Amino acid sequence: MPTASLVLDAAYAIAPVPRRLFGTFVEHMGRCVYTGLYEPGHPHADETGLREDVLALTREIGPTVVRYPGGNFVSSYRWEDGIGPGVERPTRLDLAWHSIETNQFGLHEFADWADRVGTEIMLAVNLGTRGLQEACDLIEYTNHPGGSYWSDRRIANGAHDPFEIKLWCLGNEMDGPWQVGQKTAYEYGRLANETGKAMRLIDSGIELVACGSSNSSMPTFGSWESTVLEHCYETVDYVSLHSYYEELDGDPLNFLASAVDMDNFIDAVIATSDAVGAKLKSRKRLNLSFDEWNVWYASRFAADGQQVRDRPWLPHPRLIEDDYTITDAVVVGTLLNSLLRHGDRVTVACQAQLVNVIGLLRSEPDGDAWKQTIAYPFEQMRRLARGQILQVIAQSDQYDSASYTDVPLVDASATYDEETGRAALFVANRSLTEPTGLSVDVRGVRATRVRASNTLHAQPGQDRHSSNGVSHDAVTPQPFDAHAFSDGRLTATLPPLSWTVFDIQA
Ligand code: AHR
Repeated sequence: MPTASLVLDAAYAIAPVPRRLFGTFVEHMGRCVYTGLYEPGHPHADETGLREDVLALTREIGPTVVRYPGGNFVSSYRWEDGIGPGVERPTRLDLAWHSIETNQFGLHEFADWADRVGTEIMLAVNLGTRGLQEACDLIEYTNHPGGSYWSDRRIANGAHDPFEIKLWCLGNEMDGPWQVGQKTAYEYGRLANETGKAMRLIDSGIELVACGSSNSSMPTFGSWESTVLEHCYETVDYVSLHSYYEELDGDPLNFLASAVDMDNFIDAVIATSDAVGAKLKSRKRLNLSFDEWNVWYASRFAADGQQVRDRPWLPHPRLIEDDYTITDAVVVGTLLNSLLRHGDRVTVACQAQLVNVIGLLRSEPDGDAWKQTIAYPFEQMRRLARGQILQVIAQSDQYDSASYTDVPLVDASATYDEETGRAALFVANRSLTEPTGLSVDVRGVRATRVRASNTLHAQPGQDRHSSNGVSHDAVTPQPFDAHAFSDGRLTATLPPLSWTVFDIQA
């Protein structure tokens, strides 16, 4: 049996767990908003059209921050279309997703929804077709108390108190050829700097995210970050990262190693950002906002042969409604581990997207709503990761895959909360076929017992492709008791291809 041994020690704390690490993303894309969050007439819709069943599931998974309204959508969006009485709102062509946007859901509806979830809003401004002035108008509308044109319009539209939105994205994926209003690094860096400076004149307390590369395989990855940050380093607080992973070429072991790529990507952006800071002789250090990440079967989307722009113009068409499996949930667990391990610098992260569109949740029009397999690792880590992130000293059997060498079979992260005396350990067994023996030295957190443990893996009658598509609760974490505790050591036998969580009394 393969083995892994870990050491948890409170002396090796990296940073406090950033609560914004457990964010998600709502874009006006496909059925994320319409028939996802919002479906007037649905049996579970309230009087404002918000789906209570989706609200309840969202509260369970508990995102701490939600990015809105895009994504590619934001780059041709006029935010003013989504305010005021519904009957007066214009229907527009959404250029990003070749869809009809009715604007029946906008800023106020989203703010109400976020309020009812109990989550923070992260708002993106359009730096594709629009610029500094419209971004200033928007922040005046959302954050200024009153007595000015836009703040008074907000009050007239029913929101007396400002929305007080703190976290702002300066555009989205502005390096992407697919982006409406794509920019060069120079153009974007200047625009982000000037827009950010002007927004801060309206509200000095905001936090700003500059767009990094759309992903690490962009030809300009690295040089984009350098050039952009040379222009806006002193104005912004974060640089963004986006990354999606999928199983390709029937090679699950390579897919299961995706977190190695995420680790490398994060390290590269930290190095680039810090190098710019050093060059500018700045004392400031930027943090990272990994504000789009997930498993996304993008190749299936491409393989259906129909480009987005060749589709008919429709309101909320079905787009990228991936049905997630057990394998996907284990990969998502390892991606969460990667983010948590980097929580000293990655202090915002959004699993994209919340519902239907590569969603943690699914909902059918006029029908059910349910959690996909990938929602469980998110929910568990959001609930249990408290206090300080620990640097886990790990030794594990390894494997090589097509793209990676020395991939640890067991991938882990951990936290320790001195106040409550609780530790949490999150482990994935990447072996497709073999259980793995785990031994954890927990003396350094003075652990006394396992309070609870759950594991997500294939149950009898299931395999790694099982999902919640047909039977909505087929794949859920199950109580896990193949573990023992003695002499300051926690031992366990991790099932093949599994994601296991330990809640430890310390
Ligand atoms: O999340 C789906 C899309 O992926 C977003 O609109 C875009 O930012 C990214 O390319």
